[in-house]
This record gives sequence, C-alpha cells and structure tokens, in this order.
Amino acid sequence: MAASDWQTEVARGRTFAIISHPDAGKTTLTEKLLLFGGAIREAGAVKARRAQAHARSDWMEIERQRGISVTTTVLQFPFEGYRVNLLDTPGHQDFGEDTYRTLMAADSAVMVIDGAKGVQAQTRKLYQVCRRRAVPVVTFVNKLDRESKDPWELMADIERQLDLLTYPINWPIGSGAQFQGLYHRDEGSFETFQRTTRSSRRIPAREAELADDHRATLAEAEALLNGAAEPWDDEAVQSGLLSPVFFGSAMANFGVETFLRGFLGLSAGPMPRATADGEVRPEQADFSGFVFKIQANMNPAHRDRVAFVRVVSGMFERGMTVLHPRSGRSIRLNQPQQFLAQDRTIVETAYPGDIIGLHDNGLFRIGDTLTVRPGITFAAFPRFTPEIFAEVELKYTLKHKQFQRGIRELTEEGLIQRFLPLEDGPEVYLGVVGSLQFDVLSYRMQQEYGVDITLRTLPYTVARRIASGPDPEIGRFDRARLIRDADGRHVVLAEDLRTLDRLLEKTPGLILRELADESAG
Ligand code: G4P
Repeated sequence: MAASDWQTEVARGRTFAIISHPDAGKTTLTEKLLLFGGAIREAGAVKARRAQAHARSDWMEIERQRGISVTTTVLQFPFEGYRVNLLDTPGHQDFGEDTYRTLMAADSAVMVIDGAKGVQAQTRKLYQVCRRRAVPVVTFVNKLDRESKDPWELMADIERQLDLLTYPINWPIGSGAQFQGLYHRDEGSFETFQRTTRSSRRIPAREAELADDHRATLAEAEALLNGAAEPWDDEAVQSGLLSPVFFGSAMANFGVETFLRGFLGLSAGPMPRATADGEVRPEQADFSGFVFKIQANMNPAHRDRVAFVRVVSGMFERGMTVLHPRSGRSIRLNQPQQFLAQDRTIVETAYPGDIIGLHDNGLFRIGDTLTVRPGITFAAFPRFTPEIFAEVELKYTLKHKQFQRGIRELTEEGLIQRFLPLEDGPEVYLGVVGSLQFDVLSYRMQQEYGVDITLRTLPYTVARRIASGPDPEIGRFDRARLIRDADGRHVVLAEDLRTLDRLLEKTPGLILRELADESAG
C-alpha cells in the first residue's frame, strides 16, 4: 500500500465508546448512528438484540445457543469518509469491569445525558475512567422532546459534578411539548424540531418563526452564549477538559446527524499508546496492538475464548505472525474476526483504531501486547475498584484443588479480583464491579472446573488500599473490615464513604488510596 493511502487510512479511523447511565438513550442513539452509517436497515434491530441480552436468566442460554455473538463488542461502519468503530460499553445488568476496560481501547467518548435527569451515577463512574486517560468527551443531551431541565442548569451540572467545562455547539429552545428546535451557534441558524427526519432544514436564526416568548428565549440564549459561555479551546477539547455539547432527541432522530458529523469532525484519529520506552504512534509501520477484553465462550462444546485486540500501529494482515512478549512466543493469526453490525466476519486487514477478535486457548491476558517488533510492551492495564464483595466457599470440600485453580485462573483472566484475610486462613474474598461477573464466575466454575461454589455477599461497597500509616482499629467499627490484596497490601473494606471518613478521623497518619491508583505508596 502506498504511503499516502496508508496515512489516509490511519487518519480516517474514529474509535469511541458511549458512556451513560441506564435509560439515558444509549441504545436508541447507537441505533440511529448505525442507520446513518448504513450498518442496519431498520430501527429496532439493536433494541431487539439488547432486550434479549438484558433478561439476565436468558443471557447464558443465549450465549450457549449463539456463541459469543450476543455481547457485541464493537460495531464498525463507514460514515462520510470515516471508518467508525463504536465500542460497546455494557450497562444495566451487564455492567462490569469489562465496561471500564472497553474505555481503555477508545480514543474518545460520547457522554449521553438524559435532559430531564442531568448527570447520573453510572455516567460519573465511567467519566472518571475517561478523565484519568485524558480522552476527549463529547456530550449529547438527549430526550429534548420530553420536558427537560433548563440547558444552563444542565451545563452547570456537568461542570459541577464532573469538573468538566462545556462548550455548547447548539442550544435547545424549549423542551417537551414546547420544544421548538435547535439554535446552531456557528452558523447562527435555527433548525425547527421535527420527528423522524433524516436531516432538517436550517434557516437563519432571525427568520425562525417562533412565538414571542420563544423568540425572546432565543435572543437571550444567543447573547448569553456569546458573552458568558466558555470560549472554544481546541487543546482543552483534545485533552478532555472541555466538552463540546450537542442537544437532540435520539428517539425522534432530531439533532443526531448534526451530532454525528460534528463529533467525528471534532474527535481526533487513533491515539498513540504508552510503553515503558515512550509512545508507539499509529503511523508507525510495524503492527502492534493490545488485548483489552477476553470473552469466554459460554458454549460448553466450544471452550475457546475470544481475545479482543485494539490495533495501535501498523497494518494487521490475516495470517501474519506476531510476537507475544509476555510468553515469548510467536503466533500466527489465521482466523481473526471483525465485528460488523450484524455478523462476525473474517478480517483480512485492520488499521490503527480497529478491533480484531482472536481465537484464544488460554494464552492471552488483559493488557497483553502483540507486536511484530521485539521490545515493545504497552503499559500495564489498571484494575478498577470493585464495589461488590463476596466471600466464596466451596460446596463440597473434596474439590479443593480444582476450586483453587479455577479462582486463580479466573482472577488472572480478569473476571474477578481476589483478596485474602489478614491472617493466613482459608477464606477467599472476591470483588467485582458488576454483579453479572459473579453469575459468570459461578457458571464457569461449574462448567469448566466442575466445582459448585457458594457466594456470600458482604455489605461493603468501598475498598481502599492503605498507602501509609497504621492499620485502623477496625475492631471498633462494625461497618468495615481489613483484608489483603493479592500482593499482600492491606485493604480496608467499608460499607460506605462515611465509615471510611470516620476511620480516617480516628487513625492519625492513615493514608488511603483507590485500589486502581498505583502511585506512591
Ligand atoms: P439505554 O440504552 O441508555 O439504557 O437507553 P435506551 O436507548 O434503551 O432508552 C431508554 C428509554 O428511553 C427507552 O424507552 C427509549 O425509547 C427512551 N428514549 C431514548 N431516547 C429518547 C428520546 O430521545 N426521547 C424520548 N422521549 N425517549 C427516548 P422504553 O420505554 O424503556 O423502551 P421502548 O419501549 O421505547 O423501547
């Protein structure tokens, strides 16, 4: 491939994830984006699949019947010259550490906010992961066809709750039954609200036919936005400190196309990735990539797994041989899969930003590097702070060996995080981000290791590592417990943040850190 074609191909890539609280409209928006990209032909296709995937009891049954295809990890579609990779961040009951890990493979994020609700808990958590990596975040305020909060209030909410500055690209006039449409700041134009149109006409704002009070609102918004809103700062956008904000209604398909076009234009191409010896840039010719997710096949007849690899640099070609530095092995990649909106297909080539699925018989771990150039190892993947804890026990003690092996292997794979009692003892504590991880654990322990386990959920929701200072005297607090992580570092589990605050008050010198925070201490 000629160098210029290659550069074009790299620059065309856009890899992003959508972060939102359940019910804000992520699925509806995804569906509309796929329609624009021509990846699906009718509305309802994504929704129908999601509906099935969400019924928890059905989940494993579906996995069993259909292999891994239910939990779609990435959807690729073309749009106006871009090669768009939309990463799926499972929410609802599917929420888990994988949701966070997926964000590690994205170059930017779309934050969907319900206009009536503002920033909600799950959005906050997902946003923190984006913030830590300084990825650009573009906001879509959804459901303007319903009664929504005042847009100024929504901007203030984002700034206050997320410590994120905002730059409205467009601005709604009214909402719900009074929703008039969108004022586009750059053009000074107005787009009248209509349902289910692919694109609607924009007219100069001053010609918009609005009732008097709406006209006053528009004039006021124009003046205020020009005077009081944050100025545009490209660098702040690219480093995730200023979020461009679009408004609309995913369901009514209003404002969505403007958003998609605007977002793709604003977001950068594939990002470089850190290694111990500096960055690997996407334009570098040698192929490299990293594993960000491993999906076990729930079908007992096919015990293989799929490792999802994000391409960082170079071009991936089917059949190529790559180095797996952690094991020191060379592997030939014969059957890589790519994920289109409807199906998995065998991938022939892939570029930076693309995701490929590799058949995995147990070799891969989350964060692993694959490369054709010896000496590259990407920075380790962080673990994310668990919020649900349980004590795990073996139902029939005869299977102790298999139990230990299963817990060890599934911890290594990244399904669960393991903790131990402070004094040596038989107890094993597990932590997860989402409860589905426990369901999958029980199922896989039974299927793959032949072991039945009992999980006793503990009342704790926060975990912090002791960075320095003395161990707190937990004995005096019945709402906390002291345990060790896999590296022997002491960890405090507490029922809530208040309990943690009290422990800190009563223990001078105690310094606690997030489990995910690997900095000093
Ligand atoms: P999620 O993936 O973020 O969880 O949200 P999802 O798209 O499933 O949307 C949650 C609910 O909000 C759905 O209603 C959906 O139709 C509705 N919704 C999404 N976007 C808009 C919008 O722009 N305006 C309005 N008014 N509603 C919107 P539901 O009743 O739960 O499901 P359904 O019966 O409509 O499918």
